[in-house]
Amino acid sequence: MWRFVHLSDTHLGSVVDGQWNNRFLCTMMPDVMNCLQRDLAELNPDFILVTGDIASHQTRDATFASRDWLDALGFPYYPMGGNHDFVLEESRDWFIEAFLDRLPGGDTVYSFTHKGIHFCVLDPWWKWTDDALVPFSEAPVRESLAIEPIGSRWAIPPHEFAWLEEDLEVYSRYPTIIALHFPAIPIPKRLKRKGLKDAGHLDNGDILLDILSAHPQVKAVCTGHVHMHFIEEIDGLMHIATGAMPEFPTEYRDVQVYKDRIEIHTCGLSDTSFASRSLIPGKDFTAGTESDRTAVIPLV
Ligand SMILES: [Fe+2]
Ligand SMILES: [Fe+2]
Repeated sequence: MWRFVHLSDTHLGSVVDGQWNNRFLCTMMPDVMNCLQRDLAELNPDFILVTGDIASHQTRDATFASRDWLDALGFPYYPMGGNHDFVLEESRDWFIEAFLDRLPGGDTVYSFTHKGIHFCVLDPWWKWTDDALVPFSEAPVRESLAIEPIGSRWAIPPHEFAWLEEDLEVYSRYPTIIALHFPAIPIPKRLKRKGLKDAGHLDNGDILLDILSAHPQVKAVCTGHVHMHFIEEIDGLMHIATGAMPEFPTEYRDVQVYKDRIEIHTCGLSDTSFASRSLIPGKDFTAGTESDRTAVIPLV
């Protein structure tokens, strides 16, 4: 057995707290990262998959500071951008510069194979109000981003679909995991509540699912963005959305890979006070139900 960690939405470098479904406590992130460093030293994963919204501020300095925080965890990691990372025209250049050593191929779209499991990382773009697909956001969205991302849309550009299809052909012998910031599917109905804040999902997730359905070696899609956990199996494909670290339940996934299966386990920090500080009574649904916290994916 070997394991990797799926970590999401660290929102590092912000000095502003807020509220999403629970209290969104970015100012506790330095302490959270120190605790995570100690906890991961015990767990000893082969690497960490970081599914976006790594930094909260759109500056070059914030990108490099968040890189330093992830480096300090002490394990190899594979980063990808989220809507908070890729806002400005310059954002991807900063990201590539900061994370160059961590990006196979030196780009934000990449694949790698680790001990017989293949991973494909995608980088959706912004869908503007006129439906144009652009790598950076519209100005009004940019100004409101820190407050409410509701209403924004993101989609995978056609050239990434072409790259993905080719990559899946070349590596068809390997069980494969897709990773990107935005879930391909909506939050499952069973987890929806009155007043739920829903950050949205991929605008062309249906096209992605169509492509993946022709490649049965693809076993899972690992995402973040919605700041809550869910695991949903659709047509044999496991959709795993992992919550945000500054927000209840402040947990990550321990993904254990065996010869015949992948097991997903959900882990809280050893210091449980971070989660309890964020929790608003009645809003613990962001931790998901039991089936959103543990799952087994057969590999044979
Ligand atoms: Fe986020
Ligand atoms: Fe996000």
